[in-house]
Amino acid sequence: MRAYPSIGGIRTVADFKTHLAALHLSIPCDEDLQAGPDSPLALPIRFDRKLIGNRFCIHPMEGWDGTADGKPSEATIRRWRNFGLSGAKLIWGGEAVAVRHDGRANPNQLLMSENNKSGLADLRDEVLRAHREVMGTTDDLLIGLQLTHSGRFSRPNQKTKPEPRILYHHPTLDARVGVDHTYPLLTDSEIREVIENFLSAARIADELGFDFVDIKHCHGYLGHEFLSAHTREGLYGGSFENRTRFLREITAGIRAVAPRLHLGVRLSAFDLVSFRPNPEQTTKDHMGVGIPDRYESFLPYRFGFGVNADSPEQYDLTESRRFLSLLRELDIKLVNLTAGSPYYNPHIQRPALYPPSDGYQPPEDPLVGVARQLEATRLLKQEFPDLILVGTAYTYLQEFVPYVAQAAIREGWADSIGLGRMVLSYPELPLDVLNGRVLAHKKICRTFSDCTTAPRNGLASGCYPLDSYYKQSADAVTLKQIKAAKRTG
Ligand SMILES: Cc1cc2nc3c(=O)[nH]c(=O)nc-3n(C[C@H](O)[C@H](O)[C@H](O)COP(=O)(O)O)c2cc1C
Ligand code: SF4
Repeated sequence: MRAYPSIGGIRTVADFKTHLAALHLSIPCDEDLQAGPDSPLALPIRFDRKLIGNRFCIHPMEGWDGTADGKPSEATIRRWRNFGLSGAKLIWGGEAVAVRHDGRANPNQLLMSENNKSGLADLRDEVLRAHREVMGTTDDLLIGLQLTHSGRFSRPNQKTKPEPRILYHHPTLDARVGVDHTYPLLTDSEIREVIENFLSAARIADELGFDFVDIKHCHGYLGHEFLSAHTREGLYGGSFENRTRFLREITAGIRAVAPRLHLGVRLSAFDLVSFRPNPEQTTKDHMGVGIPDRYESFLPYRFGFGVNADSPEQYDLTESRRFLSLLRELDIKLVNLTAGSPYYNPHIQRPALYPPSDGYQPPEDPLVGVARQLEATRLLKQEFPDLILVGTAYTYLQEFVPYVAQAAIREGWADSIGLGRMVLSYPELPLDVLNGRVLAHKKICRTFSDCTTAPRNGLASGCYPLDSYYKQSADAVTLKQIKAAKRTG
């Protein structure tokens, strides 16, 4: 079994750079950090008639902790407060909010509805309040709301019961959500209803004062599945034009019902085939290293977006470029680039040294996964200088986040540095970096993946190892028991 060196053991930037060179990875990394207003990370971005006040972005992260009817709980409000306290000037959506009940990824996902308006308003207010406390002003803060339908990965009623809404039959993913070739596909008219739900949700977001909504196209959920619906017949599958009709119809509809509201898209810019733990290495005590599901019998591969059809363990940005050109035509300038899916290839989506309970041991040094996402964003940034591109997968860099982030902005690899897991364990990291403070090492996310393992086992998400709010909770005890039971069979 391969083991990869932990970044926590690397002491200096020079050693980190040596480590990258040994892995033949090209990741930009500055040797010294600049603080103050001239630091690359403190430079504003012009967006429409507004300035986004610095180069940190908080990625959307849901906590599986809303109420049964989709309102935020105390834990949800606390998480959003932390997003505000981070000092980041771009809050990308807060978390995935379902546009209708059957599209919820779990029974505790937030739900857009007239009844839930005041709860959602509280979330935005909490971000504004917290941000004002630490930054003095919210004039240059941009807050979005991520709108989603979970499609294939919907579990609206019970945490353990998939209720997939699928666009086409997938040779490896159907079985993972418990369906076979007889399972019905969403019809074109059902798709039109979902589009209407997106429009209603956008109208509510507009009323609540959100600056933009993200029409989510990533991580295997419905928007993303449209992009790979090559084998679907009818108006929403087949050609590129048909596969992007969902986005185009939502965009046109939102422009009509909420002309003030800006639009953004979070996109899995590339994908690979699905992975699973190597069964030959998997025992009751240990999960095997990730290996790709067999795909040889269905080449060319027509079941992914941004995948090389002849060699689907490699990515291919041809259609991603085309998609970004479409966003440009639609005047959608806010784009958050991510990759793959947490359900079927988590190592490319959120590189981690320790896998979640439904994952597998990393098949590559997680730094390879970081470099892959950074490189894809760099390539797309070169071709789309006029779009605002947020980069993803920085958390695994740990102590070296600021050094890489600063270099990435300075060298034009991305416009904004998106942070996910790091903000769960260490919300004030962006503020500390901007103020030139030494990082609080004990708060740095070490990619233990408990924030993914917990929801996979029906518990709320959160940073159980490092955040006292979760560390001392009853769920923490249950999580320990679940993990111990898995280890001992
Ligand atoms: C607990 C958790 C919840 C997440 N929820 C969402 C979500 O609601 N929407 C989304 O687009 N991505 C979601 N993600 C993915 C993150 O936004 C991000 O892409 C990923 O964690 C990689 O970034 P990082 O390396 O900085 O953590 C989630 C990730 C985690 C760990
Ligand atoms: S549980 Fe905490 S340390 Fe582990 S990956 Fe999530 S945020 Fe990081």
